Formats: sequence, C-alpha cells, structure tokens
Amino acid sequence: MSTEATVSDSEIIAARDRVELLRAEILRHNHLYHALDAPEISDAEYDELFAELRRLETEYPELASADSPTQTIGAPPGRTFAVVEHRLRMLSLGNAFNAEELLAWRQRAVDLLDREEWTYVTEPKIDGLAIALVYERGRLVQAATRGDGRAGEDVTANLRAIDAVPNELSGNPPPVFEVRGEVFMPKAGFDAMNAEIAAENERRRAEGRAVQTLYANPRNAAAGSVRQKDASVTAIRPLSIGIYQLGWCDDSVTPDTHWETLGWLSEFGFPTTPEAAHHDGIHDALAACEHWTQRRDTQTFEMDGVVVKVDDLGLQADLGIVGREPRWAVAWKFPPQEASTVVEQILVNVGRTGSINPYARLRPVRVGGVQVTNATLHNLDDIRRKDIREGDTVVIRRAGEVIPQVVRPVLERRDDDSAEWEMPTICPGTTCGERGCTNEHCGGEQGIVDICEGAWCGGNVSRQGDDADFYCDNRYCPAIVQRAIEHFAARGAMDIRGLGEKMIRLLLREGVIRDAADIYTIPERLDELAKIPGLGQVKRRKGEDHYEVGNRLRNLAGAIERSKTRGLSYLLVGLGIRHVGGENATLLADEFRSLDAILLAPTEALAAVDGVGPIIAESIAEWALDGENWSVVHRLQVAGVEDEIELSDEEPSETPLDGMRFVLTGRFGAMTRPQAEAQLKSLGATVGSSVSKNTTALFAGDAAGSKRTKAESLGLPIWDEDRLIDALGDPALVSIWLTEAEPAEPN
Ligand code: IVH
Repeated sequence: MSTEATVSDSEIIAARDRVELLRAEILRHNHLYHALDAPEISDAEYDELFAELRRLETEYPELASADSPTQTIGAPPGRTFAVVEHRLRMLSLGNAFNAEELLAWRQRAVDLLDREEWTYVTEPKIDGLAIALVYERGRLVQAATRGDGRAGEDVTANLRAIDAVPNELSGNPPPVFEVRGEVFMPKAGFDAMNAEIAAENERRRAEGRAVQTLYANPRNAAAGSVRQKDASVTAIRPLSIGIYQLGWCDDSVTPDTHWETLGWLSEFGFPTTPEAAHHDGIHDALAACEHWTQRRDTQTFEMDGVVVKVDDLGLQADLGIVGREPRWAVAWKFPPQEASTVVEQILVNVGRTGSINPYARLRPVRVGGVQVTNATLHNLDDIRRKDIREGDTVVIRRAGEVIPQVVRPVLERRDDDSAEWEMPTICPGTTCGERGCTNEHCGGEQGIVDICEGAWCGGNVSRQGDDADFYCDNRYCPAIVQRAIEHFAARGAMDIRGLGEKMIRLLLREGVIRDAADIYTIPERLDELAKIPGLGQVKRRKGEDHYEVGNRLRNLAGAIERSKTRGLSYLLVGLGIRHVGGENATLLADEFRSLDAILLAPTEALAAVDGVGPIIAESIAEWALDGENWSVVHRLQVAGVEDEIELSDEEPSETPLDGMRFVLTGRFGAMTRPQAEAQLKSLGATVGSSVSKNTTALFAGDAAGSKRTKAESLGLPIWDEDRLIDALGDPALVSIWLTEAEPAEPN
C-alpha cells in the first residue's frame, strides 16, 4: 500500500513539474506568436505542447488552474494600441484531427441536444488573425484584435485602410452591430511583399543599415501588417478579410441560421468566407473536410483547416460554450505542413544544364505525413536572403506534392560559431555513386574528390550574368552528361523504360555510352553488353559463369527501338535545349515539322511562333551553333530516330500521290531518308521498305545496293535525288514522268 502511495506521489510531482514547464513554454510561445508575430515553433509543435498539457490536466484534475493557457486565449493586448473590451468574448475552437474526432464532436452535441439530425456549414479555416468590427449607422466605428478573447487592441485606423473592409455599408444593416472575421494575406501578395522587403534589405545592407526580418508566413505577415503603428503602412499591404460571424447585434431582426447570416451579411457589402458550403448531415460535412484536405493548396490564401459549424443558431445557443470553445463549432485541422529540424549539411547537386543546386540534408522529420530528409535551397541568393546555415534549426514546409522548402532558421537556436555557407568553386559532379564509393553524399550528386571512385568533374563553378544560379563550365562534366541522358530518356521526352538513373550511371561508367545518341547503339551490342556485371544474366554451367542477354537487356533494347518513333516534339524536348519544354516543343514541331528545319531556322522565325518568343529562340540558335550538338543530331538521324512530323498520320489536305507506292534507297544529300519518306507520305503516297512489282518507282540515292538491282530486274522506274526533290516540290510531275517512262525490258 505504502509503496503505491509513494509511486503516485512521485508521479504527481513529475506531472506538476511537466505541467508548469508546459504552461511557461506555451505562454512564451503565445507571446512570440500573438504579440511579436515571430513564432519560434511550428503550429503543429505548438498543438502538441498544448495537447500534452490538456492531457495532463485531465489526468490530474488537482493540477487544473483557471489561468492555465488551456483556459485562456492568445495573449493579452500589448502596449502600442488602446485596449478594447469585447462585449461578447471572442472564442477559440476545439480541434478534430480525423473523422473519429469529428464524429465524436457531433456525438457530444447529439447527447446534449437529444436529437440526431440538423444541418451544418463548412468554411475554410483561414490562417490569418481574428478581428471584430463594430458598425454604427452603416459606418465602421471600431476594429479590434482578439487579444486574449476578453480584450483586444484597437486597430480601427488600420482596418479602415484595408480596401476589402467596408467603411460604409450598403443595403439596410442593423443600426449597431458587430461582425467577426479573419484578416489574411493572400499567398501571392505575401510572396511579393517578402520579395520587396528582401530587395530593400539588399539596399540597406549596401548602405550598412539595419535590415528587416522577412515574415515567416502569410499569417504573421497579416498580423504584423494590422499591428502597424502607422496605418499608411497597413494600407499598402496586400490584405483581405473573410467575415465568418455576426458578433452581437442590437434588437434588429437577424436570420435564424448561420448559412442565412452569411448571405445576409454579404448583402451589406461584407466579403464573407469564400467557399462556404451547406450540408444536410455530418457525413456530407466530413466529405467536405476530406475534400479540402486534398485541395488545401488550390486556394489563393493559406487555410489550416475547415471550420464545421452547426447551422441553426437556436441549436448553437443550446449547445453553448465550454471553457474557451463553443460546442457548436469545431476546427478540422489538416496534417501539419511545417516542422522544425536541423540542417545537418548543405550539399549541391548538378543539374542538366550545369546549374549547381544547393539543398539541405536534414535530420529526418515527419511533415504532412511524410518522412523528409532533404529540402531544396534554390540558390545562393535564397540561402543568403533567408540566412540559412549548416547546423541551424530550421522550419521546413511541405506543401502538396512539392519538394520540401526551408522556410527560415530559428535564430534563437543558432550556435555562436556558425558561419555562412559558401558555394563550392570547383564542380563536384561525378559518375560515382554505386559501387566502391564510401561517400554517402555521392550518389552521382556530390562527390568528394578524394573519396569518390567515379570520374569527377573539377570544372570551375561561376555565375553567369544576373542569373541567380551558378554553373559548372565543363561540358563533359560527368554529372551534366548523366542528367542530360536521364532527361533524354525520361517520360516527358523519349520515354525509354529501363533507362533510369542507375542504368545510365552504369552504362556511362562502363563506357558503353557517352551521350544520348549512343543509346541507339545498344540494341546492336547486346551480346557484348551481357558480359558487363549487372547487365547480363549469369548462368552457371560446368562450374563456370556464362553471361547471357537476359530480359533486362532485351526489354531495354525494345524500349530503345520503340523510342525511335516517339516523334519530333518529344525528341526536341529530349535534346535538352535550355527553355525548350513540352509545350513550346509542340508549337515548334507543328510549325517547322522537322528537326533540321527548327535548328536551321533564323532566330526571328523561331521567335515569331506564337508562344515561343525570343528567349527560347535565342537558346535554340545558340544550341545549334555548337558542332558537338550537331554530331548528336546527326547520329540520332542515322540511327533512324524519327525527326519529322509524320504527316501521313494526319488527314492530308492534298494527296496528289494517292495510290502510289515508293521505295527509297541509298543516301540522299539534301535530306535524310525519314524526312523524304514523311514528305512523300504527306502527299498521299505509301512508302515501302521492299521493292516489289507493286512499287511505283524507286528513289535511289548514292550507294544504292540490292534494292536498285531488284527494281532494275522488275523494270521499275528508278529516279535519282534531283527527281525526288522535284517530285516533292511539284508532285504533279510524277504522273508525267510515269507516262513518259519507257518501260524497261525485264531481264
Ligand atoms: S468561426 C468561436 N470561421 O479560427 C469562434 N473561425 O481557432 C468562431 N478562423 O478565432 C470562429 N477562419 O480567428 C471561424 N471560417 C472561420 C474561420 C475562423 C479562421 C479563425 C478565427 C478563430 C480561430 C479559431
């Protein structure tokens, strides 16, 4: 007995210590968040502290206290603004993190009301700051922040300066009433504003003046903008408002439901919460919550959840309030998108165009339901602007499927000896990354010269003009070559299945390929390639290993062959010309119809294509000036990669060669065989690969061989390249030649 008592005593003591610590921490974070607009931890981490405190207070009721942060809201008003007492307390909301919790919330209401059915309204939970607006005779007379719920700050002048907040109402509003809503900053405005502050900081730095910290997120930006001493600053900030509630009202007649209230308020000119919806039952409301969980990023403003409200205001009154939260509404919270962790190292990888792209290797952390170990850092300017250093505790953010971003460092947790990160001056690109390398950061992304076994680049890294990126100047940089081939084989380009990052690395390291055109030699060299460990299939016979062409190589060869007919626009994308992507490649292919025509077109002609423009045109022209690029193009053409638009697939407008069947053989100087074939097809002809008595004529270039002999033996017309060019220029000539043609005597 006595032992048990001792255990529970010590448990209570431990719990009390923890509760006190949590309360102090939460109050400190409240102050940072509400009063200083400068949070140190993410909302999710705050929610965790809060939930732990609440759990302990429930478990040990003797530790409950009226001034615990679980019983109070936000932070008391600061000293900059006059204090406004709220006539009706401004509340907070309870959370539901999943369907079970949402249904439990509804069940509590069912139990209290002793009924099952009623309607709901859902609204985006806008991440901004709550404001109460008082109107008298249609004019805005007072605006106040929530503060601690009982008293907030008088920000009337600032709210009057926001365009979205009506200063004068229209229609027939009640003589005196209060509305509540969320002031927020749309994401685009937030980005633009931070960019402006960054630019101003550049100027200040140059002049040795103090700089202004960037806002961490749209919520803090909105709060900071509303709490300006000078209302003219608020006026130029991109702020908006969503009204979500009628606060108090004189004895005017008001609607009976929340849904009607929103409509009623909008008649007076209030912008009510966008995307609000009415639901017949809880399952319908739940579906809306789940819908928004998937689509939170589609809105122009940040939303951190969905507010589910009981629609009937009479039922709302019956349900009432518990602590600081109404029972008639609940916040469906999204899984957190932000978390804090430590930047263990800043590394770079080398992009296809040679850009040196920094990224953060992070201490693993879960964000939005996914384990995150890396986050992009964009470029050096961005790293400097955000002031991110190795060893920093940082807030990272993962929105939708996008690669996680480092939002900001937590400067309070920075080590004194931390130093700014520097861009490497020598390119670390390497072919290493698989066998033999003990450098965990290698992976063909970053090689440390004296560890990596693969070929490494060592080219110079420098900045070009005002481009924010740094580039490697070595065109044979192993990393650039690797990325270029990956790009060529990728889904959006030639779509060669089985030719992914690892396979390419292996083929490069073994010297099988050096560039994209070499890929097309693979199908002819399967037996040779089968001997390379990792490529062929090993069979053990009579105690000896034999390498055979297995499925892996066979499938790869098949995919390579298939890619030959992928088409001009994909080929153009695959070449990796800077700025040429799927959309403009299609426009160029449609306009010029062959790779040669695109690469040889004058810059002005390229730029004149609708949707292309001078930057892309310049980039293509520059690419086409390079002899090595032409070597790749030529070898692709020789390999039979389709580099023209197959007009025969479309409805030809005129088909003067309809019903005729041609065969081409030998080499033509002015065009490639596939080009000529495509043009003949576009004129309605069929182009065959073997000569028969059904062949109309044979076009024979230089070094024509057996097909010419066969045509001769069948007495078919045999025409040279000049005739081919004439025929393509004026197809009517073909019929004339045919009638003129003296049938040759069959041998
Ligand atoms: S209704 C009883 N509707 O969320 C409180 N609140 O966590 C009634 N918020 O203080 C609030 N969007 O600042 C409501 N559509 C919305 C909201 C919303 C954002 C904020 C509001 C409130 C906080 C509660």
